[in-house]
Amino acid sequence: MPDTPADHAARLDRLPQWEALGKHREQLGEVHLRDLFAADSERGQRYTLDVGDLRIDYSKHLVTDETLALLRQLAEVRGVAALRDAMFRGEKINVTENRAVLHIALRAPHDTVIEVDGESVMPRVHWVLNKMCLFSEKVRSGEWTGHTGKRIRNVVNIGIGGSDLGPAMAYEALRPYTSRDLQFRFVSNVDGADLHEAVRDLDPAETLFIISSKTFTTIETITNAKSARGWLLKGLGGDETAVAKHFVAVSTNAEKVAEFGINTDNMFEFWDWVGGRYSYDSAIGLSLMVAIGPDHFREMLAGFHLIDEHFQLAPIEANAPFLLGLLGVWYGNFHDAQTHAVLPYSHYLSRFTAYLQQLDMESNGKSVDREGHRVNWQTGPVVWGTPGTNGQHAYYQLLHQGTKLIPADFIGFAKPIAELGELADHHDLLMANFFAQTQALAFGKTPEEVAAEGVPAELVPHKTFVGNRPTTTILAKELTPSVLGQLVALYEHKVFVQGAIWNIDSFDQWGVELGKVLAKRIEPALTEGAEVPGLDSSTSALVREYRSLRGR
Ligand code: F6P
Repeated sequence: MPDTPADHAARLDRLPQWEALGKHREQLGEVHLRDLFAADSERGQRYTLDVGDLRIDYSKHLVTDETLALLRQLAEVRGVAALRDAMFRGEKINVTENRAVLHIALRAPHDTVIEVDGESVMPRVHWVLNKMCLFSEKVRSGEWTGHTGKRIRNVVNIGIGGSDLGPAMAYEALRPYTSRDLQFRFVSNVDGADLHEAVRDLDPAETLFIISSKTFTTIETITNAKSARGWLLKGLGGDETAVAKHFVAVSTNAEKVAEFGINTDNMFEFWDWVGGRYSYDSAIGLSLMVAIGPDHFREMLAGFHLIDEHFQLAPIEANAPFLLGLLGVWYGNFHDAQTHAVLPYSHYLSRFTAYLQQLDMESNGKSVDREGHRVNWQTGPVVWGTPGTNGQHAYYQLLHQGTKLIPADFIGFAKPIAELGELADHHDLLMANFFAQTQALAFGKTPEEVAAEGVPAELVPHKTFVGNRPTTTILAKELTPSVLGQLVALYEHKVFVQGAIWNIDSFDQWGVELGKVLAKRIEPALTEGAEVPGLDSSTSALVREYRSLRGR
């Protein structure tokens, strides 16, 4: 689509605020964090925010007061706050799908007024939440039994993307809060091995499947759900009526749920204004609620809501999602950083970064703006990372001494969980690593310091750490349901801020469609040897080889 003069005027990279940031970046040059800290003994305290239960230290970033002021001016001229307010009002800010974006309603109090198409959404949100609570209690107490009257011992969530990553991540994160006499498994991959491994040691009579799919058309989920039904019926003697006691659904699509054979009384609804990657605090969190119980689930929602209010009301200079979003813009657009690492120092957050990958990369992995023009600026980063300290013995070498600038978030907790007993003694060692890493990344070790240790001259360059590698530290007392909600909401809104600055639609995901269409076209070639018109020479040769290896 050609640019009109008005579009040109609105172009982000031609705004005076953008140009000012570019100039400022040049002036700052390679200013070192060592110097910034030396020049301001209060920097560590000044560049800290306390939001809810989160201490957010952003002092180890390559920024000055001027950088932060310029970034805030950029947010102002891009109308980020106005778009945020439009989201909270329920306006249809997902322009390409003409949908409201209201995950914030999922954790709002009952008396909040939010309307979509003239209809209040809050009564429906709380009605479903209450239905989830009743159901969860029935499963947890043993009142809900399987077809043969046996108590449910295993809960298998079948879903993919946002219908899997959220509950799977939060289940791991909140394991100490889970009912330990129930087993939970999460099946997402269409690779039959996923379902096989999940159910091979389970008794069908004691197993409940929660089929989670916003659309109820996703091929992976429907394929797995059909196979799960087959496994159940085989195990229970083929009586179709068993399905009602062993399958429930979470979806926006009642028609498809009924078509699949699940009674819609056993369906937990959500709505098109909840994006898949923003959905785990909707009914998509049903498996999580069964695991942790309704009270803990509500605590988690309260944590989300706390950050929603902060995002909505805190002034921009003390607004954590604004701050983190703007720092990401600073590195992605003015330091050419391509990636962003999220490094939780908690084993329980082992799935957190995988969850954030969908949240961030499906939201902001776009190269056209909201009006359909190709953007001339970098958008969302590659998000990656694994829990500390494992990464330290794998890829941190590159973080410390590689040629790439990789901004990183370090997330840690003061208290280990009570259950650990004597193992809690590990915690100080874990956290000593946590603090040491951000210190080493920021300040490094000069050649003079290395030489003073008596290191032979030829090894000095190898043992030198340049430092100046930016990190955010997020520290909380402990990983509670509320703190998890706070962390997730913080990242949700950070992603929002960045999408607003880049003027992209953070709430659609057209980029996943082409692969789906092509897979459908190729499948008959694999199974029946059907001709696929227009298949390129590489893919058609690979398909032939595949068929021959399969013995077809
Ligand atoms: O990957 C595309 C996507 O549409 C995600 O946005 C979504 O979370 C996932 O597929 C699963 O979709 P559904 O919940 O409709 O099965």
